[in-house]
Amino acid sequence: MHKILVTGGAGYIGSHTVLELMNSDYEVVIVDNFSNSNPKSIDGIERIVGRRPVLIEADCSDYTQMLELFKKHNDIEGIVHFAALKAVGESVEKPLSYYKNNTLSIINLLSLLREFGGKHFVFSSSCMVYGQPDILPVTELTPLKPALSPYGNTKKIGEDIIKDAVLANTNISAIALRYFNPIGAHPSTEIGELPLGKPDNLVPFITQTAAGIRPKLQIFGDDYDSSDGTAIRDYFHVMDLAKAHVLALDRLFKGSNKSNFEVFNVGAGKGVTVLEIVKAFERVSGVKLNYEIVGRRAGDPDKVWADTSLAESELGWKVKSTLEDALLTAWNWEKKVRGI
Ligand code: NAD
Ligand code: WQD
Repeated sequence: MHKILVTGGAGYIGSHTVLELMNSDYEVVIVDNFSNSNPKSIDGIERIVGRRPVLIEADCSDYTQMLELFKKHNDIEGIVHFAALKAVGESVEKPLSYYKNNTLSIINLLSLLREFGGKHFVFSSSCMVYGQPDILPVTELTPLKPALSPYGNTKKIGEDIIKDAVLANTNISAIALRYFNPIGAHPSTEIGELPLGKPDNLVPFITQTAAGIRPKLQIFGDDYDSSDGTAIRDYFHVMDLAKAHVLALDRLFKGSNKSNFEVFNVGAGKGVTVLEIVKAFERVSGVKLNYEIVGRRAGDPDKVWADTSLAESELGWKVKSTLEDALLTAWNWEKKVRGI
């Protein structure tokens, strides 16, 4: 079994990926500082898989703490790096915290991976690196635009750091997965997305509104160039995203990668409007959602969706779940968390 360090493995996407890795015979060590998560997610993973991953509470941006971790687990062969701060608005207010946390973590992890002889690195990148693309759908060759926030910039800079580092050291190979909009939860409702405070993202806001935690969903803008005037994104099931990480690691371990640094779009490959999400949610949940249309949210692109043909041909990855499946699991998770 290959030992993999999963940073941010207690978080939303990390926890779903950990269980897929454990089910695929990878041995997982999680490191998380719980800045945006809770150790309870590890209990949920254990209930699903029947085994508990090793969990270390530490900060990836602290070199000394990471060195201790690598000394203890000096047989780590690869890293799946989720740990990052991710709130776009907060990154505008606290840019230095974002640059420090998100870029230092990458530098520490790559340095120690090299020092301790590990070879594989999978990075959580984001469709944010494309900004508002001129041509849709977006392919991996679509030119990147200046980032619209410090958070988005940490993803662009992160990719650059990794690319330069692996090109200078051919023993490490990396894959950056550019996620579009992951939603939903594990069907068991043992793990899911648990935003602290008021959610920024659409689907947790919808489920919290349906659960009565929020009085009303505000839809940001109905004057976009789309069938109903609301903005378009590419939503897909978090369990499909989790599987993409397993395939990316498998590819690196098999040596099937075509270069030391590869990038793949990961999304459903389909643009869906905000109102279409609302209607689909109402259909699967049977709950009528209270919403109002308000002005646009600053910095929001009009429309972004992925061309995922590269992930399909190279990784053998494609979404399997429908939007309805994903929304239903998000709703079932919300009901479980709220005791509904
Ligand atoms: P999340 O906040 O649920 O998970 C991130 C985890 O990392 C949390 O458990 C947090 O406590 C931990 N963490 C943060 N900084 C850390 C540090 N310095 N040391 C140790 N642990 C630390 O977020 P998520 O939605 O699961 O996102 C995971 C990754 O995917 C992030 O890198 C994020 O930027 C990226 N991403 C997310 C989305 C999305 O829509 N959720 C889209 C694109 C990319
Ligand atoms: C989706 C759509 C909103 C909330 C975010 C991050 C980005 C990336 C993916 C990490 C937009 C609209 C939302 C609400 C609304 N994550 N909306 N009312 O903006 O595509 O990207 O997640 O890399 O960094 O910013 O996702 O879920 O916030 O919004 O009308 O209360 O829903 O305007 O059109 P987004 P989102």
